[in-house]
Amino acid sequence: MNLSHKKILLGLTGGIAAYKVADLCRQLIKAGAEVRVVMTNGAKAFITPLTMQALSGNPVHDDLLDPNAEAAMGHIELAKWADLIVVAPASADFIARATAGMADDLLATLCVATSKPIALVPAMNQQMWANKATQANIQTVAKRGFHIWGPASGEQACGDVGLGRMIEPVEIAEKIDEFFNHKPLKNQHWVITAGPTVEKIDPVRFLTNRSSGKMGYSIAQAAANLGAKVTLVSGPVNLDTPNGVKRIMVRSASEMLKVVESATEKADVFVACAAVSDYRAKEASEQKMKKQGDDGLVLELEQNPDILKWVASHRNCYAVGFAAETQNVSDYAQAKMKRKAIQMICANDVSRSDIGFASDQNELKVFYQNNGELEMVSLGPELKSLLAFELVELINKVK
Ligand code: PMT
Repeated sequence: MNLSHKKILLGLTGGIAAYKVADLCRQLIKAGAEVRVVMTNGAKAFITPLTMQALSGNPVHDDLLDPNAEAAMGHIELAKWADLIVVAPASADFIARATAGMADDLLATLCVATSKPIALVPAMNQQMWANKATQANIQTVAKRGFHIWGPASGEQACGDVGLGRMIEPVEIAEKIDEFFNHKPLKNQHWVITAGPTVEKIDPVRFLTNRSSGKMGYSIAQAAANLGAKVTLVSGPVNLDTPNGVKRIMVRSASEMLKVVESATEKADVFVACAAVSDYRAKEASEQKMKKQGDDGLVLELEQNPDILKWVASHRNCYAVGFAAETQNVSDYAQAKMKRKAIQMICANDVSRSDIGFASDQNELKVFYQNNGELEMVSLGPELKSLLAFELVELINKVK
C-alpha cells in the first residue's frame, strides 16, 4: 500500500467503533499518508483527542468556532487541504446531518464546504441501519457521489447480530488504497470530444447549440482518474480543464476534425460527446451581413464533416458515439450506430430539461456490440460526474 503525499482527513463521530480508528490512523501514516483528524463531541466520549493527535502527528480539530484553529487551519483550509475525507465511524446521526447539508459542527461543515471526495464508513446498531430514514439518507448521499464503505454484518457491541458493524480498519485502509491507486486504464490513450461547435456566418453571427460540455468533461475526468492519458478536444465552453487532462480548444467542426485526426493516431478509445453542428454556412461573410429590404434571408448551408464516422473508418480505436434525440430515442440511436459503423452509442433524450443539454444529470441507454450481439445497458438518471465513471468502466470492460 502506497499513500505517500496523499492528504487524508479522518473524521470520527460518536460510536464504539471509534477506538478502532486509532489503528486505521496508524496504518495510513505507515503507508505514507498525511493525516489530519476531526472529531465530533460524540467521538470524544469514546476515544481521546490526545490519542489521535499522537498517532496522526497533528493537532486534532474539534471546534468550528475555535479562534486559534481559524487563524492556523480553519474549516475552509481543512476542506481544501484534503485529497479525501473519510468519516469513520459514521453514525446514523452524522449521516442524517450530512444528508441534510447541516453545518452545525466542524465535521459536518467540512462536508458541506469541500469539493473533495467523501467516504462514509457506517457503524451503528442493526436496527438503526435498517431504519427507512437511514436507508433513504444513504441512498441520497450515494447518489450525490459519497462513497459508502460497509457496513459489515456480525455480532454488535450491544449484543445484537446483523448489518451495521464498521468494516475493519485493514479493509478501510485497502479501500483508501484502491481509491487512490486503482488505475485500470493505465497505458491507454483516450480522445474525447466535448461541448458545441461554433460555425461562423459573419463576424458577429454564428450557428451553435446548447451543449455545456459537462458530459464530455466528466468523461474526460473519469478516464483520467482511472489512469488513462486523456486528450480532450473541446468546443467553446465555460468549464475548467479537468485535472490531469490535456485540453485542446477548437471552434468549428472542421477545426475539431483536424485536431481529432492527429490526436487519434495512437488512441485506444475515441468518445464523441461533442454536439457537432451538422451544417455550416456555405460562404461565411467577411463583413457583417446587412439587412436586405423587408424580405426574409436565405442562408445556404453545407454539411460539416462527420468526425465520428471519420474516426470509425480511419482509426483502429474503439469508437463511442452519443445520440442526442428528441423522439424514437432508441431506434434513432441504433440507426446512427449502424450508419457510422461504431461499436457503441449512448442515447440521451434531449427533449427533457432534467437531463441532456446543460443539466448536471443525465440518463443514457448504451447500445454496444458484444460477440456479434447487440446489448443494451441503462445508466442513470444521476449526476454526469458519477454516470461518467460507470460509462468509462463499461467501455473498458467491453472494448
Ligand atoms: O454538453 P452537455 O450540456 O453536458 O450535454 C451533453 C450532450 C447532450 C451534448 C451529450 O450527451 C450528447 O448527446 N452529445 C452528442 C450530441 C450530438 O451531436 O448528437 P448527434 O446525434 O447529432 O450526433 C451523433 C454522434 O456523431 C455524436 O457522437 C456526435 O459527436 C457525432 N458527430 C455528429 C456530427 C458530426 N458532424 N460529427 C460528429 O462527430
